[in-house]
Formats: sequence, C-alpha cells, structure tokens
Amino acid sequence: MPKQIAILTSGGDCAGLNAVMRAAVYRADSLGWKVLGIENGTAGLLDSPPRIRGLKPADFNASVMRQGGTILGTTNTRNPFRYPVPGGETRDRSEELIAIIKGLKIDALIGIGGDGSFEIMSRLATQGNLNFVGIPKTIDNDLDMTDFSVGFDTAVAVATEALDRLQPTAASHDRVMILEVMGRDAGHIALSAGIAGGVDVILIPEIPYTVENIAKKINAVKAGGRNFALMIVSEAVKTPEGNKRQVVYQGGEKRYGGIGEFLGPKIAEATGSETRVTVLGHVQRGGAPTYNDRLLASGLGVKAVELVNEGKFGRMVAWRHNEVTDVAIEDAIRQCRVVSMDSSLVHTARALGISFGD
Ligand code: F6P
Repeated sequence: MPKQIAILTSGGDCAGLNAVMRAAVYRADSLGWKVLGIENGTAGLLDSPPRIRGLKPADFNASVMRQGGTILGTTNTRNPFRYPVPGGETRDRSEELIAIIKGLKIDALIGIGGDGSFEIMSRLATQGNLNFVGIPKTIDNDLDMTDFSVGFDTAVAVATEALDRLQPTAASHDRVMILEVMGRDAGHIALSAGIAGGVDVILIPEIPYTVENIAKKINAVKAGGRNFALMIVSEAVKTPEGNKRQVVYQGGEKRYGGIGEFLGPKIAEATGSETRVTVLGHVQRGGAPTYNDRLLASGLGVKAVELVNEGKFGRMVAWRHNEVTDVAIEDAIRQCRVVSMDSSLVHTARALGISFGD
C-alpha cells in the first residue's frame, strides 16, 4: 500500500492555494505517495462522513493552478479546540479529530495555513503524535521565518492596481483618495502597495500618526502644484485616540474595518480637500495568483512533500533569501512578523517623501 499524505487549506483563502496543491500532488505522485484532500480545513474531517477526496495530478488540469480560492474549501471560524456548537457554546473536538485522522490511515498531514491554523495544527500534532508539515499562506505576510507567504504578492498587486485606478479619478476631481487595505496587525500590504502605487501617505499599525501630520503632507503636495493626493491605510491602524476600528460579524467574529471611513472626514476637514474612501476588502484575496505567488507556491509545495518523504516533521517550509528551505514551525508562529522600523522599505518610503503621518 502506498503511504498517504493528507493535505488541507485552513484559515482565510488567498490566491495561489491551488498552485500549492498542484505542486504537492505532482511531487507526491513522483515519489510514490497517495494524496487525500481534506475539504473545508480540519472542520471537514469532523463532518459525517469526513469530507475527503483523492487528489491526483490529473485533477490539476491547466486551469486549476491559475484559479484563486481553494478547490478544497477552507474555514477560519471552526477551531477544533473550541468548535462552535448550537446555542453559542463551544466544545473541544480535538481527540475526535485525531481519532479520525488515525482511522483514515493518514501517514502525514500537510496544512496550508497562517499563524492561527499552524497553532491549531501543531497543537493537534503534538497531542495526537501526528506527522505535520506546514506551508505558509497569508496575504498579511506576518508569519515569521519566511520572507514571503503565498498570497501576499497577489494582494499587493491588487492594491497597487487599485491605486493606479484611483490616481486618474483623484486627479480629475482634485480629490484626496484613501484606500483601506487588509493585513491584520501587520502593515506589509499597505507599505509595499503604497510605495509601488506612488502614494503620498502610508498609515500602518506599526507607526503612530496624527491627522495634523497627514494634513501637513497633503497641504504641501497641494502647495507644490499637484491637485490630488493618494493615501493608503492598513485596516488595523487605530484612531488617533488609540481605538481599534472593527466590525462584528455573525457568531461574534470580529474583523478589522472602518479606519478609512473614520479618517476621511477628518482629513477633509483638516485639508479642505474633497475626500473619498475605497475599502478593498476581499478583492485582495481573490483572482489569479501573480507569477511570484505561483513560483512560491510551486517551490513550497514541492519542498513540503520532500520533507514528508524524508520523515522531517514539525517543520514549516519557507522562502528565505531566494531559496526554499524549512524552519521549526514553533519559530514561525512565536511572534507576528510586523513591519520593522529598520526595514529597507520603510527607509525607501521616507526617502521618496512618503509621509507615515508621524
Ligand atoms: O488574515 C487574512 C485576512 O484577509 C486579514 O487581512 C483580514 O483581516 C481577515 O483575513 C478577514 O477575515 P474574513 O475573511 O474572515 O473576513
């Protein structure tokens, strides 16, 4: 009997997940492993019957790797240690889940996830003595020990394109355009897209700002003869008073959102400029992956299966200094990788005259 790898996508989706799976399935096939796809993250295994299907190279025809989303489905709201049950309560279903994985004769589990998913899966692996390898994906790019996670490059490309589209309309109407982007507690998307999209102001959660300083920059732009300004703001930026802007969804799930709308009128008042706000939201997670995300996905998918084949577990595959490598999973999730104040990109932005509002 060939040995079996199970693969799942977990947490928020992003572009490039299907390309990761394609690479993993191709490499598994060439090394003689069977691959089972688990649908809907670990939650799919807790359904009755468990939601699994075989994955073969033929399942990845030419179009699948180009598609956004995940053909397996995913969830970011069903932690097996606090699984939601009717009535608003939660229940620990981890032992049940481990028993199901063992019953399916899964020799190794590959999880494509971010920090939250890896915390859950490595805890499960320790508790159930499971063989686990992680592949980093998150548009937030906040996993430590890897320069890039799958999905980030595409999200930055989408945000940059949004700025390219906002610039001519800003110029036509003499407006200040504010673009709110995702990224959770790390400002990587706003920083990269802000530089690439030629904005005047970048607000990220790592750098405190004042509305007065933002207005000073915008007024200086206008005094210099330009009739419009562009600003990008990361969703976790707090109000000047230090409050988070959040939205509460069904089941009490909280997500960042609303800082753009909060700041728009304040900036309009401080600068006397007509101001409009665009919230990019989940558009950053959909669509075809960029070529960089496809390369990353391919390299990481192949490497994850090779680690399994070598019997190396408790590892996360990583992209560091232009090479595919692997690191201990606990090192990748020990801390959220936020924007470092001495990063080249912060220096570059400042050197280009971009204001962080500080
Ligand atoms: O972690 C990825 C991410 O897209 C964040 O940038 C964002 O804050 C969050 O997920 C949105 O989550 P949901 O898809 O549950 O609304």
